[in-house]
Amino acid sequence: MSVEPTSKIKFYSGEVIPLELHKPRIVQKINLVPIERRLEALEEGGFNTFQLKTPDVFLDMLTDSGTNSMSDMQLSAMMHADDAYAGSQSFARMAKAVEDVLKMKYLLPVHQGRAAENILSKAYIRKKGDLIPMNYHFTTALAHITQYGGRIVELLYDEAYHISSSHPFKGNMNVEKLDEVIREAGVDNIPFIRMEASTNLIGGQPFSVANMREVRKIADKYGLKIVLDASLLGENAYLVIQREPEFAGATMGDVIAILTGLADIVYFSARKLSSSRGGAICTNNPDIYHEIEALVPLFEGFLTYGGMSVREIEAIAVGLYETLDETMISQSPQFIAYLVNTLVAQGVPVVTPAGVLGAHVDAMKICEHIPQTQYPAGALAAAFFLISGIRGMERGTLSNQRDEEGNETYADLELLRLAVPRRVFTLSQIKYVIDRMVWLNENRHLIGGLKFIYEPPVLRFFMGKLVPVSDWPQKLIAKFKEDLGDSL
Ligand code: F0G
Repeated sequence: MSVEPTSKIKFYSGEVIPLELHKPRIVQKINLVPIERRLEALEEGGFNTFQLKTPDVFLDMLTDSGTNSMSDMQLSAMMHADDAYAGSQSFARMAKAVEDVLKMKYLLPVHQGRAAENILSKAYIRKKGDLIPMNYHFTTALAHITQYGGRIVELLYDEAYHISSSHPFKGNMNVEKLDEVIREAGVDNIPFIRMEASTNLIGGQPFSVANMREVRKIADKYGLKIVLDASLLGENAYLVIQREPEFAGATMGDVIAILTGLADIVYFSARKLSSSRGGAICTNNPDIYHEIEALVPLFEGFLTYGGMSVREIEAIAVGLYETLDETMISQSPQFIAYLVNTLVAQGVPVVTPAGVLGAHVDAMKICEHIPQTQYPAGALAAAFFLISGIRGMERGTLSNQRDEEGNETYADLELLRLAVPRRVFTLSQIKYVIDRMVWLNENRHLIGGLKFIYEPPVLRFFMGKLVPVSDWPQKLIAKFKEDLGDSL
């Protein structure tokens, strides 16, 4: 089974490059400011890429959340929104799209993905110590589960933790361990099992339909619910078509319906799924619907808007239908595959196989001289911005939360994520990313660690402020000037 992307368009030259099957008709100017200004911007932002301001950022690879290009059809749909507090027809159109695409009858709108995590944790975590088995956590899911006294256990196969791999489905849940964990913890202490499509924090790695079917069998054996985080479901389905022989040639719609059909509850961040902004919880089970229905008006807004603008609701409806378009969904994974494979060929350690969401650079390896106590992935994110103007996101120890005693919990992987939102970047911009990352890798010994000067208690990576442990940024600038002269 190959994990390399297939393209229906071949170049006569034999070159393997992705081809854009869209045209930009509205564009946004971006700036590449000088390296001295980039250092000032880092200092102002506490060496935390979440704290940078966009006028200082050239390529914004922080996230694909709310930053995917929207289509002309989405924009035009936003113009005929039905702005009613209750009974809005925009909501009816979103509900129809959820039924047609996700095959789910009941829809509870929320303002974004983490709001769904809040509501589901509130509804189902009944006592302290309740355990939620999952393939892997996402930061906001974990924060909400622990907020309500729950605990998690992560059940990936060992292969998932290997940076360099050709395993097509590193996001698979270890089903043998799942069975064991349920027997040990006791069914009454498990509110639900959580499966995350295209497992974000291990490098945007999918799970297979075969694996989800196995998880379903175990859930049925013990009478447990499965909650599917479908934020990156489209790309997961696309990689199933690419990599799981049973689904070669299947349609996106078929695979999406099979995956959602194996879950009891589906929730998503519409900032990812549907390239808009918002979120939802969906189910086919009326009992589940009624169990959580009251929490939506309490935390989010009335049941026909859930805290979202009606314009975004229209964009979600169209965006969900567009998720069925393999051409649209394949664009980001194909650009990512080009980025990942070219970086690997040039000696940069990156998570393989190429997955979804972005390229994930191995900071544990590049910054092996920086101890985890000094946040190697955070340091790499800061250093990369300094020498390129490209903003990535730390996905390592800095993004972890401290344990109940206040100790650091060291991440399994220290990654710098370079997100590739759908249909945003051109090929020459991706080539610039590669060029600067190869340079930084060759000068990696100049990168030093970071330490907190302000550490918030919850989701510290968003607002935290850090400083470099030495004058390493100045040394990196000197080497950049030596090699690249007065280049921006
Ligand atoms: N689940 C997954 C898998 C996510 O990737 C995210 C967000 C959420 C839930 C939360 O959704 O942001 O709408 O509240 N991921 C963003 C990212 C933040 O950059 O990867 P949200």
